[in-house]
Amino acid sequence: MKIPEKNQFQVIKSNFTKIKIQTIPDKNLTLLEGEILVQVDLFSFTSNNITYAVSGNIIRYWEFFPAVKENIEEWGVIPVWGFADVVDSKTEEIPVGDRIFGYFPPATHLKMKADRITEKKFIDGSEHRSTLPSTYNLYKRVLSEPNYDRSFDRDRALLYPLYITSFSLWDSLKEHNWYGATQIIILSASSKTSIGLAYALHQDESSPKTLGVTSGRNLRAVKQLNFYDTSLAYDQLNSIDNNLPTVIVDMSGNNEILVDLHKALGDQMKFTLKVGLTHWEESNPNEGIIRERSKFFFAPSHIEKRIKDWGASEFDNKTSRFLLDATAKTKKWLNYKDLDGLEELKTQYPVVCSGSLPADIGLIVKM
Ligand SMILES: NC(=O)c1ccc[n+]([C@@H]2O[C@H](COP(=O)([O-])OP(=O)(O)OC[C@H]3O[C@@H](n4cnc5c(N)ncnc54)[C@H](OP(=O)(O)O)[C@@H]3O)[C@@H](O)[C@H]2O)c1
Repeated sequence: MKIPEKNQFQVIKSNFTKIKIQTIPDKNLTLLEGEILVQVDLFSFTSNNITYAVSGNIIRYWEFFPAVKENIEEWGVIPVWGFADVVDSKTEEIPVGDRIFGYFPPATHLKMKADRITEKKFIDGSEHRSTLPSTYNLYKRVLSEPNYDRSFDRDRALLYPLYITSFSLWDSLKEHNWYGATQIIILSASSKTSIGLAYALHQDESSPKTLGVTSGRNLRAVKQLNFYDTSLAYDQLNSIDNNLPTVIVDMSGNNEILVDLHKALGDQMKFTLKVGLTHWEESNPNEGIIRERSKFFFAPSHIEKRIKDWGASEFDNKTSRFLLDATAKTKKWLNYKDLDGLEELKTQYPVVCSGSLPADIGLIVKM
């Protein structure tokens, strides 16, 4: 089969602001029995994807989609969430024309090995992905979904991976009885993952009050959401009530702020969930962090645990109600910006890296 245009967006792993678009050789896309070829249709791009690069070695994000034609020690591919169409197939169970949602490279095409296929889903059983977190290997066959509607593809690509994390954070905090806290401080409050958590806490009457902390330039937008009980800028942290038992949910990864908060709160710092690294450019002192009451929160692990606890279909029921509601709320303030392919991603990539994209913009790359 002749494939017209085949490209992959690559970054230098150790200095991921350096990027290039590389042609994918035909040999990388030649199918063996059981394999399929998909053409990526659209995907989202947010700080979450930049964090995949920041933690690419530790969490093995570089291993999902090896860089083609390059030394894979030096060059890497940042995973993205989106939709793709099957354009060639060497398995009868997945026909050409099938459409899938899941984890892709920012690239025109991807060769996959469809495994454990059902009418609704399959996993990519490629050898190099076999020991990576299983939630990232799962693909939904969206044409089998009774309510599938293409006009919601952008919402799902942008919001699903972030709001499923928000749901998981709320669920985990509640499971731990809020760690005894009466206030929850959320750092990098303008990020979509934080906003999703604010939605979840806002609709839970048993939730402690929430305090969103953001940069000065995003404070107005965060206040206007009306989902945090209080909103502050990073330089207003001295107005926080240090006498209240507090949980911190940190999307920023900015340890300078965390050290100040831990010192000010002392014993009242009941627990910190370290979730994200939006402030990846900041230095990260460790001295002063209360380590014994801080832990990294990895959404895929929580999702796997809940699928075991509740079963896959109950998990889908519980989360889809939340996702639908959170998406409807988001559409009141979110503005999509569509980018034309990998070339336009190249121009917007530095804006996402630097955090200067306005918080109400959702980037979608259309291939
Ligand atoms: N652990 C997990 O399982 C998991 C799962 C999903 C997401 N996450 C993490 O959650 C975080 C939020 O992701 P998202 O996609 O929701 O973010 P997003 O919506 O793209 O958030 C953008 C916001 O992040 C801050 N920011 C981004 N880059 C920055 C920079 N270079 N310098 C300073 N501030 C910057 C700014 O917020 P402020 O001004 O408010 O700081 C900005 O408004 C990411 O680190 C992501 O990896 C973790």
